[in-house]
Amino acid sequence: MKIIMLGAPGAGKGTQAKLIAEKYSLPHISTGDIFRANIKNQTELGMEAKKYMDEGKLVPDELTVKILLDRVANEDCKNGYVLDGFPRTIPQAEVLTKALGEMNDAIDFAIDVDVPDENIVNRMSGRRACVTCGATYHIVHVPPKKENICDKCGSELILRDDDKPETVLNRLKVYHEQTQPLIDYYTAKGVLRTVDGTKDMNDVFAEIVAILG
Ligand code: AP5
Ligand code: MG
Repeated sequence: MKIIMLGAPGAGKGTQAKLIAEKYSLPHISTGDIFRANIKNQTELGMEAKKYMDEGKLVPDELTVKILLDRVANEDCKNGYVLDGFPRTIPQAEVLTKALGEMNDAIDFAIDVDVPDENIVNRMSGRRACVTCGATYHIVHVPPKKENICDKCGSELILRDDDKPETVLNRLKVYHEQTQPLIDYYTAKGVLRTVDGTKDMNDVFAEIVAILG
């Protein structure tokens, strides 16, 4: 099963993608996590991506597409995957459609986690992330057991550089301009499903499970 998560920054794509990946034994592939790991390790790719990410802009398609296609060519992806944060532009979606088409394959579900802009800024300022294992917390909704320490791997949690309110507003603007058109793109392909991302995260997940079966 090949699944795409769509939705605004902070809608809960990562949260739900992790739950889906666990339940259906699929790899969870987040381009944002891949970039953040590269920034942490100070790779050339990381330094290039950081320039865009810190301003809330998208990393150029050329860089992003290559990373994603390399990743989904891995052995662990042969039975499917959950893509979180890719595609984010129509050209990215077209590259993916073409690459899958060449293998007589296609995306099965594009799940849009729908959350209005008003809810987003509040969620982001409370988010804490683990750069070592990618786990995500929220100081009110999903607090870690020990303050600022990841439950899963014991590393320190951070407030992402791009979660400052002014950067979040820019990410929302970029989302509406460049990513939201993907909703029509996948609707036309007959694979779009929308879930109400304002609900409690377990209720959102139950909606998704009802869709995926
Ligand atoms: P990326 O890491 O993908 O960030 P994003 O899309 O902005 O989304 P987030 O990860 O911020 O939010 P999310 O929807 O995963 O929400 P989460 O589950 O954490 O990308 C970062 C940057 O990398 C981009 O800005 C861009 O520069 C670059 N990039 C990445 N991919 C790219 C691409 N394909 N092309 C170009 N550039 C790319 O939840 C948010 C918070 O809310 C958490 O604290 C969580 O605990 C909480 N929460 C989740 N669900 C609920 C709920 N139901 N109720 C209450 N709280 C909840
Ligand atoms: Mg995420």
